[in-house]
Amino acid sequence: MRKTLTPTVSWVGKTDWELTRFHGDEYSTHKGSSYNSYVVEEEKTVLIDTVWLPYAKEFVDNLEAEGLLAKLDAVIAQHAEIDHSGALPELLRRRPDLPVYCTANGVKSLKGHYHGNWDFHVVKTGDEYALGNGKKLVFVEAPMLHWPDSMFSYMTGDAILFSNDAFGQHYASERYYNDLVDQDELYSECIKYYANILTPFSALVKAKIEQVLSLNLPVAMIATSHGVIWRDNPTQIVQKYMEWAQDYKEDRVTILYDTMWQGTRILADTMAKAISEASPSTTVVLHCLSKSDKNDAITDVFRSKAILVGSPTIGKGILTAVAGSMEQIKGLRFKGKKAAAFGCYGWSGESPKVISELLKDSGFELVDDGFKALWNPDKDAIASAYEYGKAFAAKI
Ligand code: FEO
Repeated sequence: MRKTLTPTVSWVGKTDWELTRFHGDEYSTHKGSSYNSYVVEEEKTVLIDTVWLPYAKEFVDNLEAEGLLAKLDAVIAQHAEIDHSGALPELLRRRPDLPVYCTANGVKSLKGHYHGNWDFHVVKTGDEYALGNGKKLVFVEAPMLHWPDSMFSYMTGDAILFSNDAFGQHYASERYYNDLVDQDELYSECIKYYANILTPFSALVKAKIEQVLSLNLPVAMIATSHGVIWRDNPTQIVQKYMEWAQDYKEDRVTILYDTMWQGTRILADTMAKAISEASPSTTVVLHCLSKSDKNDAITDVFRSKAILVGSPTIGKGILTAVAGSMEQIKGLRFKGKKAAAFGCYGWSGESPKVISELLKDSGFELVDDGFKALWNPDKDAIASAYEYGKAFAAKI
């Protein structure tokens, strides 16, 4: 399968409509994904990235059917994660002479995954690969976007930035370009991708964008490794990343909770009503963590200025759905957000304290010690929860 992008650059990747989970079971892909691989055919023929392992044979067979396999002069491995490097073993089994260009960390990661003694050529920022016809690929190391080995490649002449994971989305489409797809769907997948994958690396995102912008390079296309290719106002996604990388928040509150016998759910609903009535401009979103998609919940946390997290007390701790999401939230290292905890209890009532500690460890600013209600909330407890929600709205 080949899609021509310019007279000498083609997409030769795999669109995966079947994918529902990514990174093991950690990331939901409601709209599938794609593993974008590109081939540049100037005087030299160069492959940029490959596809996920299950599609390795199909991918290399396609290269052969297109007459590209025998023509290739080099493969650029911008990132060693299996969704992009998965077809390298099959490719190099059939073309063992092919040089592999990657960063020094790329060699470590690729050897770590595949244990192959391939013809590695280490590149660093500013190094070039001459394509012929007056064009070249210029490499830019981009550590932690998404792994230590990641890099971008910029093609002069055609002005294409091959950005690998950065600026991508898990979004299957046969339309290939950003201007041809539903914009709400596209941006919803972009922000989910940033929130769930790139948030902890925001400082590096900002610094890398500033570095690339300072080069004043023309950019006709940003060809990512997942989802659509940005060709219409391609730097719009770069501007969005700059916004998202700087402690992003909207006038939004997310309430995350789980419940055993509906008591903590009643507190969540009551607090949501109180916040909405106290601050009508604020969007309030609730996620019952044992039922909601956890990545959608994380995206709402990313968009929020404050969160409330609730669980009843169980075994002096909290429900596992809440604990699991708090572990994920901790890893994402959100900044500049406020928070508090709540929950029902029957006798010991540790849950708000446990959650508060987790929130503090995760970098949230606690606005108070939280709220708890004994047994199932009665009329008075519901009134107190309402007052608590109103006070929370005033503090954020
Ligand atoms: Fe799409 Fe970090 O791999």
